[in-house]
Order: sequence, then structure tokens, then C-alpha cells
Amino acid sequence: MPIYHKQGELPPKRHTQFRKPNGELYSEQLFGTIGFDGMSSLLYHHNRPTMVKEILKSTDVSPKIALEKNIRSLKLVSFNAPAKDDFLEAREPLLVNSDIIIGVAAPRKSLRDYFYKNTDADEMLFIHKGTGTLRTIFGQIPFEYGDYLIIPRGTIYQIDFNTEDNRILYAESFSPIYTPKRYRNWFGQLLEHSPFCERDYKLPQNLETFIDTNEHLMKVKKQGVMHEMVYIGHPFDVVGWDGYNFPYGFSIHNFEPITGRIHQPPPVHQTFETNAFVICSFVPRLYDYHRLSIPAPYNHSNIDSDEMLYYVDGDFMSRNGVQPGNISLHPAGIPHGPHPGAAERSIGQKGSEELAVMIDTFKPLMVTENALKLDDGDYYQSWL
Ligand SMILES: [Fe+2]
Repeated sequence: MPIYHKQGELPPKRHTQFRKPNGELYSEQLFGTIGFDGMSSLLYHHNRPTMVKEILKSTDVSPKIALEKNIRSLKLVSFNAPAKDDFLEAREPLLVNSDIIIGVAAPRKSLRDYFYKNTDADEMLFIHKGTGTLRTIFGQIPFEYGDYLIIPRGTIYQIDFNTEDNRILYAESFSPIYTPKRYRNWFGQLLEHSPFCERDYKLPQNLETFIDTNEHLMKVKKQGVMHEMVYIGHPFDVVGWDGYNFPYGFSIHNFEPITGRIHQPPPVHQTFETNAFVICSFVPRLYDYHRLSIPAPYNHSNIDSDEMLYYVDGDFMSRNGVQPGNISLHPAGIPHGPHPGAAERSIGQKGSEELAVMIDTFKPLMVTENALKLDDGDYYQSWL
């Protein structure tokens, strides 16, 4: 997150003595990515953040691949994924490669029994249904329908839901998730042509500081294995932090669409980037206004990337028979385009209310066993 933010109490100079009211030193921690080259924050803990008491058990949670090499277009009915009480057990990994795990989750209950830390991946949680608060070592981020939550790898967090009917699209990214570089100047500030700006971000607030020396359970995901560890001292014991590396939220409803006289290509919808995939937001917008324009997209050969589209809401103009929560996968290697009748249907229309999230990966996606359970079976023939 190329923006400076801070919460709580800090010493005036980094790496200097910072003492508790009783005279003991606070424990300083550098929390960075990409070695010492990426973004980082400095945190001040009441306890040492290193007090591992026990490692209880380690469970392989890597996705079960059903189709390693796929050329079939798929439609997955993600709302058929079962709701489960636990935040992590609810996760259904669907489409994966060595850069990303894309999945859905319908967790019913708040995560309060343990703390969670993903050391493999930055996480993107897109909130389709439900409201609540992401509670992290950096502070709280309230969320609602349409929010992207970007959680850098290593962030310790819990999550509170106000609701039982929660639906989340998630991505675990093995490289950092950034805003697109072309939207930013050389200092990192978002430029005037960017579809959103710093004011749209939901930054961590209301830093919670708990001081105890009790035992606390933490689930740490590393190399596809979930390690259950007992720490001494409450993980949310930070009295202050500052820097550039922290979780934040951004609402898809704050993405300002870029429109034109003729059809605009998918990059105008780009919201986030990594070195392995992009995330795009399709939001309600005016259609192309050339007198002979065709608002529906042209057929295209996405020869270099697999395209996954998650339909959130509205009437999706280029597709027949898609519902909220449906996922389409258009794999690289074969062209795809509007469904029969969609191009004609789009002519003369003034705008769209469609809302969707697209993830395009540069490497092909493998299909998991979980995904095949949600597959509608005959989508690949729906252009006939
Ligand atoms: Fe496409």
C-alpha cells in the first residue's frame, strides 16, 4: 500500500528506546515484504512477538487438483458451495496455479477462537454478502457488500461478522498485490486518470491493544500446510505502528468506470495487479456512445491468460443465463465472446448495471475437485 499510515503511540525516532509506563522496553518489529526492499511497517509490541510455546499439529490444506490441463470453458455455481461455521474450513479452493488460489467461502461465524496468519500469500477477500469487521494487528477495517479487503502476507487477523449469510470470493496471491503501476506517479501517488484515489481507501483504525501473558492459538499457513501454534501473549498487543505495509479496504462501488465512444478493452477495468495476474472491476457504467457502436465486447483470443469472471450483481450483458455468484472460466487457447444474440441485444442500450470481478492469470488455471462439484457441465457449448 503506497501510502503512509500510523496508529497508536510511537517513539520519535525509529530503533530507539521506547518504554512502557513501568520502564520496560517495548519490542520493536519490522514487518516488511520482498526482503528489505518492499513496503514495510514498524510495530511496537507489549510482549516479544517470538514467544512460541508449542507446535500442536500441521495439516496439509493444499487444494486437490482434478483437472491439471483444462481447455473447457466452465460455469461454476458458487452459491452451491456449502456454508460452514469456521472461517477457514469454509474456504473452497476452485481454480489454482503456482501463483494464485481462487476460491469462495460462506463462513457463518465470526473468527474468535484462534488467530490466523497466511505467510504464503497476500489475501484478497471480496465481500459479496455480509457485513462485519476485519480485526488485525494493525487495527480494524469495517466491511460491507462490495468491499475488497487486501491483507498482506504475514498479517495476523481475526474477523467478525454481523451476519450469518456471508459470501466471499477470495484470492491467495503468492506475489504482493498492488494497485496498477500505470495509475501511479514515481512517488506512488495515484494520478488523475486513475479510476480511484487514496481517499477511497479504508485504512485500519481503532487499534486494539490487549496485554496479557496467556496462551493463544494461532493458525499459520506456510507452504500449503496449516500449522497450529500456541503463543504466549495476546497477538494484538501492539501499542503503535507506522509505515506502508498494512491491510486496507476498497469498495468496488468507488471504482469510477472509464467509458468511450467505442468499446473499451478490459484493462480500463483494472483495479489491482501482481506480477502473475490482474484483478478488474466491472461496474455500472454508460455504454459506448458512437452512433454505430456495439456495446457488447468483441470476440477475443485470450491466448496468454485464463480469464475468470465472478458475477456479483445486475444483468450481465454479454452472457445468457448467468446469476449472482456464478463464476465463468474462459481458458487460454480458445477464443470466447458474447453469447448468441448478446451483440445485437446490446445495440442502442444506454448503460449497464452489471457488477463483476475478473481475475486474469498469465499461467493456466488448474481445476479443483471442489470446483467440479459446482460445475454446470455444459457451459462450454453455450455459444452454439
Ligand atoms: Fe474475455
